[in-house]
Amino acid sequence: MTENVENDYKILKLGNPILRLTAKELTKREILSTEVQELIPKMWDIMNKAGGIGLAAPQIGISIQLAVIKLESDSDRYDNLEDSDEFIVFNPTLEVIDEKKQGFWEGCLSVPGLRGYVERPRKLKIKYLDQNAKDKEIIVEDFLATVFQHELDHLFGLLYVDRLNSTKDLVFEDELTDMASEKLLD
Ligand code: NI
Repeated sequence: MTENVENDYKILKLGNPILRLTAKELTKREILSTEVQELIPKMWDIMNKAGGIGLAAPQIGISIQLAVIKLESDSDRYDNLEDSDEFIVFNPTLEVIDEKKQGFWEGCLSVPGLRGYVERPRKLKIKYLDQNAKDKEIIVEDFLATVFQHELDHLFGLLYVDRLNSTKDLVFEDELTDMASEKLLD
């Protein structure tokens, strides 16, 4: 699990087979291990340097069920957030609460330069283990629901391009119109 952790922060891109694996669940003991605990700040660092709002461990070549998500709370797109805007998520399960679909122009650090309009259910329950290996259960909706679904897809070998209704909904980001960019996830 550690080969890529020390110095190699390369973000894998679409086509790399590791992105297509179902990532390994961790035991509570593994989550609390030094190795995994030290990976968490590295994940934040890599994500911040790349300018993302989420990163899943498989994207840096580590096929374990870990994703980090951080939203800037000063945007009105995120006004449903309650006590926290940072999430460290191990071994998640998702349950759709509201099937009604909502669409955003999604981007992905593993698919640089492109955007895709993806519709996903607007409200979900997420169960996971946090960085202390404690059980968590949260309700996510609206923009945050899409962010969670995008990141957690990475743990199951899926990318947003798999969720497109049509390849016509896939564009280069410098071709996005102002109107489209109102629903931007980056
Ligand atoms: Ni992504």
